[in-house]
Amino acid sequence: MIELPRNLAVFSGILSIFLAVLYFRRSTKSHGLPLPPGPKPEFLIGNARHLPTQSPWLQYTTWREKYGDIFHLEALGNHVIILNSYEAMHDLLDLRQIYADRQPLQMVDILMGWGRVTSSSRHGETWRKYRRLMRPAFQKDKIAAHSRNLEKPMRACLLELLRSPEGFYEHLRLLTGRAIIMFTYGLKVDTSKDPLVEVPERGFTRAIHMALPGQAPLVDTFHFLRYIPSWFPGAGFKRNAKIWRKELDDMVGDPFKRVKAEMAAGVAVPSFTSTCLEDPAHSENDIVWSAGSMYVAGADTTHALLSSFILAMATHPDVQKRAQAEIDTVVKGNGLPTLEDRENLPYIECLLKELQRWLPAVPLSLPHRLMEDDYYGGYFFPKGSIVFPNVWALSQDEAHYKDPKRFWPERFENPETAELDPYKYAFGWGRRVCAGMNFADATLYLAVVSILSVFDISKPLDEHGNEVEPEVTFGTGVVSRPQGFKCTIRPRSNDAAQLIKAAVEEMAW
Ligand code: HEM
Repeated sequence: MIELPRNLAVFSGILSIFLAVLYFRRSTKSHGLPLPPGPKPEFLIGNARHLPTQSPWLQYTTWREKYGDIFHLEALGNHVIILNSYEAMHDLLDLRQIYADRQPLQMVDILMGWGRVTSSSRHGETWRKYRRLMRPAFQKDKIAAHSRNLEKPMRACLLELLRSPEGFYEHLRLLTGRAIIMFTYGLKVDTSKDPLVEVPERGFTRAIHMALPGQAPLVDTFHFLRYIPSWFPGAGFKRNAKIWRKELDDMVGDPFKRVKAEMAAGVAVPSFTSTCLEDPAHSENDIVWSAGSMYVAGADTTHALLSSFILAMATHPDVQKRAQAEIDTVVKGNGLPTLEDRENLPYIECLLKELQRWLPAVPLSLPHRLMEDDYYGGYFFPKGSIVFPNVWALSQDEAHYKDPKRFWPERFENPETAELDPYKYAFGWGRRVCAGMNFADATLYLAVVSILSVFDISKPLDEHGNEVEPEVTFGTGVVSRPQGFKCTIRPRSNDAAQLIKAAVEEMAW
């Protein structure tokens, strides 16, 4: 009875010293600067319940009104910083190298092994080696030299669109898969059921799902759980992780083995993998993982923008007519447009920019992890913070874009008055900028000009043959795209239909 108040006094004394030390440590590190503002944290769990799980960029854009261009959340010890202005994104992510790390997730990156894929790799020597391997392959002249391998799947896609236009979403998905697999491995894919397409898609979808807030297993919060044995009751996540890790190893290992076998037999089509293998300076492990990263990072994103392109054309006939007129003047009835025609197609260039802006494929980009304490805009950013550039907010910002909801390539036309170029942000930032940007851009360009040169795209028809507005839903995960909508795709003329057939005969897939 008498002891209790004394114990309490001792306890509160220790607690006060502990809190004072914590406060002092933070305030010395923070140089007296506050963390950025944000939603009020709850006791113990901070903002864990505030983190949106679906289309988080929409909630973050709404919060921008309340908290400003830079705001902060804290969930279970992790600091999350959301940047909403181009200035902050550029100043920090482009110009300061300490933002070039990634946050390792216990389940996905460590146990399932996805941390070995370039886009998830920690900042360090291994990641640098992957980037060094990819850099020469993705130079513009190398991609131009590879043009036949882009044109072939493009022509196959045109024929598929002619035969079954209602399947456009799947045809475009197969196009991006074929183009990347040919570029990376020199392997030919005939259907979207091919394991080279299906296995990475399945694995990537699972990894992304498990990385979402609210979907990750407990081990992502309580890291020590990583060390409990697989047989332990409740350790199902470890048994699953083992299976999925093997699936990932096979996903990157199998096509690599096929390339080696084809090289040994003297029948390999030159590709990123075969070129790297010819140089003994590169380790097989580095080639396997940098090649394996390409499909994972590139197929879904490029497909998302092609899906936006079809929607934009169906709903903006004036833009479509102007783009077609420009292509017709350049091609003059001599076959399909090529990569070389690009410099003579300025309106198409604007259309491609508008595609990157209108519905960005990766609306929150990928998060960067801060490697050291930092200070910006009067705020303290603690080391280890996870920093999201809210690209969606930027792309819809009226301070940068007049009438941002409208698909309007003309906004980029006049160099004197052109609005903010989306290529400055759609492919990410600084040292982490998209490694496959030139390849993605060439694929998108070729798809846009090839499709517009031979097809008219319009809104879907109702049972009476009248045009109706397409009903669209949007992806809510890391990659967002318009999906589930219908539209009408018809050859522009009989000649256009004949041109497609002749083009496929001339250059068969
Ligand atoms: C329109 C299509 C594409 C878009 C919008 C896109 C966008 C992005 C973005 C936003 C990032 C994160 C950058 C950052 O963290 O700051 C990224 C990373 C990456 N992208 Fe792309 N991407 C596309 C296509 C491709 C293609 C086709 C490839 C390869 C064939 C590719 C390979 C990569 C790789 C390897 C990374 C990881 C870079 C790193 O962490 O060092 N991407 N991309």
